[in-house]
Amino acid sequence: MQIFAFAFLFACVLCKNIILTNDDGFTATNIRAAYRALKDAGHNVVMVAPVSQRSGWSGKFDVPYTKDLLTDGEFAYKKKGDPAWGYEPSDLGIWYFNGTPASCVGFALDYVLPKYFSSSSKSENGSEQASGNQTMDKVDLVVSGPNEGVNLSPGLFTISGTIGAAVSAAYRGVPSIAFSGSNGNNSFFKDSLDTDKMNPSNIYANLVVDFVDQLFKDQEEDERLLPLGTGININLPHVGYENESCTDPEWVYTRITGPGSTASIVKFNETSGLVSSGSNTTKALLVDYNGLDFLPSEASVLASGCKSSVSLFSIDYDAPKTLQKKIYKSLKPLFKEDTNVEDNN
Ligand SMILES: *[C@@H]1O[C@H](CO)[C@@H](O)[C@H](O)[C@H]1NC(C)=O
Ligand SMILES: *[C@@H]1O[C@H](CO)[C@@H](O)[C@H](O)[C@H]1NC(C)=O
Ligand SMILES: *[C@@H]1O[C@H](CO)[C@@H](O)[C@H](O)[C@H]1NC(C)=O
Ligand SMILES: *[C@@H]1O[C@H](CO)[C@@H](O)[C@H](O)[C@H]1NC(C)=O
Repeated sequence: MQIFAFAFLFACVLCKNIILTNDDGFTATNIRAAYRALKDAGHNVVMVAPVSQRSGWSGKFDVPYTKDLLTDGEFAYKKKGDPAWGYEPSDLGIWYFNGTPASCVGFALDYVLPKYFSSSSKSENGSEQASGNQTMDKVDLVVSGPNEGVNLSPGLFTISGTIGAAVSAAYRGVPSIAFSGSNGNNSFFKDSLDTDKMNPSNIYANLVVDFVDQLFKDQEEDERLLPLGTGININLPHVGYENESCTDPEWVYTRITGPGSTASIVKFNETSGLVSSGSNTTKALLVDYNGLDFLPSEASVLASGCKSSVSLFSIDYDAPKTLQKKIYKSLKPLFKEDTNVEDNN
């Protein structure tokens, strides 16, 4: 008992407030393992994740327009007719929401935390507070994932719900990290959540803790974990039962674009008369306008075996100054004289 108390105090030096979400739904094994590991590491964690599979919804901000679910949720864990949002009866820290990953972040920031985890609401909702729940007046980090399946290319950067949630958090000024695993199977936590050290979900969960705790350690007195308007995209390789020789992958700094990253294309089959989607590399994906140009691409690092890619992104979508000036100059005749951008620095 004493050892436990000591361990808890020790862990709580880095005790932070984390929102956890994903796109595979709140029933996915990966997110349940990550929730458990982040809590075990001493963090205050509130999970708000979609009630059903929302892979591929990117940053779309869908909110439910009914109070009840019109269809069963993922794995029919929540059923048609259940409320459109709610928490696990056994744990006020685990919420589902009939929305997209991006809107789950919004629902966490704008509804769940103010209503159930703020120091000012604590007295009002006193009876609702599960015992032992911490208040979370400030959110230190949004963690999205670990997704079931990697999110590597810039194509996926705009498609992935995992990344969509992280980008949407960055829009709100909340530091965010998207984690994507190589374990593609959409598994139900009731079937697959265990304490087996070789279970990829458990290895990923520990990697999430290692990574965020290192960042938190270095944060020291800084108010923010990451600079305003930035986030991190991380992809994790096949581990544990999917590659028994990979249990402790090496972290590698990467670029989101670069060699091996692909754009979506449409393929037409002359025989069947049907179209299908595919992907291809393009020259455009090799340009280095921003970031460290010597870094390898996420795609090349994940293809090289037991390594995890780490890319810092920003939500400043504008092209660099020199490019803007070049293009704006060619458009000059359309603009008023006093909007001369070339002389402005
Ligand atoms: C995939 O997930 C399903 C649903 O949880 C589970 O029944 C099945 O065993 C999993 N398969 C593998 C290979 O992990
Ligand atoms: C094109 O369609 C035909 C007929 O359905 C099919 O047999 C063939 O495999 C398809 N080709 C490709 C490249 O998908
Ligand atoms: C795919 O990429 C290759 C190499 O860049 C290029 O030659 C080819 O035309 C591309 N195919 C399509 C369909 O874009
Ligand atoms: C499995 O891990 C080993 C390193 O431990 C690595 O060399 C190998 O490429 C990995 N295999 C796959 C398929 O990722």
